[in-house]
Amino acid sequence: MALDPNAFMAAMVNRVNFTDADKALLKAHADWGKEIAPDMAAHFYTYLSSDPEMNEILNSTPDRLHRLHGTFVEWFHEMFTGMDDWGNAYAQRRWRIGLVHVRIGIGPQHVVPAMATVVQEVSKRLKLDGKPEALQEALSQMCMIDLAFIEQAYVEVSAAAVLQETGWSEGLFKRLIAKGAEVA
Ligand code: HEM
Repeated sequence: MALDPNAFMAAMVNRVNFTDADKALLKAHADWGKEIAPDMAAHFYTYLSSDPEMNEILNSTPDRLHRLHGTFVEWFHEMFTGMDDWGNAYAQRRWRIGLVHVRIGIGPQHVVPAMATVVQEVSKRLKLDGKPEALQEALSQMCMIDLAFIEQAYVEVSAAAVLQETGWSEGLFKRLIAKGAEVA
């Protein structure tokens, strides 16, 4: 069940129909992305801090919030540059981000609305700065791909842990899940 980040990235690019034109548009706005990234980070962490559960996680070590501002700014800018043209390096980076969140125990219930706030804030800023609608679409696609990485990490890590602990086959595990979903 081990996930190949590069193959997953390629599948997502096809699934959301992220095209060469989208890539070109994002790259052309990479400087703008860098410029607005600190503002987006500020909105993002204001939102996360407004939730008591997430606020506790964010402040559980003294330097965490400060460090996160920096990593968010990098993450945001990378959506525009694509790092290596949205290739293996990009995929590996996104997979690692997913694994970090799983390790800390931040669930999909936190991550999905958090990404929605990013899309919302970017959309407001795009309008304010008179940027094309196509840029909003390209950015939203990339946010959804990045979100898919974080979400998929939960599934992959949980499944791998159960399989390793129990020695079950992947087929048995999938049948048990399907059966569980029938009774739920
Ligand atoms: C839109 C969704 C999110 C994005 C794009 C994002 C981005 C990132 C990035 C880039 C890192 C650094 C990963 C690394 O070290 O390689 C990180 C770590 C982390 N994120 Fe998120 N994050 C998201 C959602 C959340 C949510 C909902 C929380 C809830 C509190 C959260 C809390 C954390 C924490 C605690 C760390 C580890 C910080 C440390 O180094 O101690 N993130 N995140």
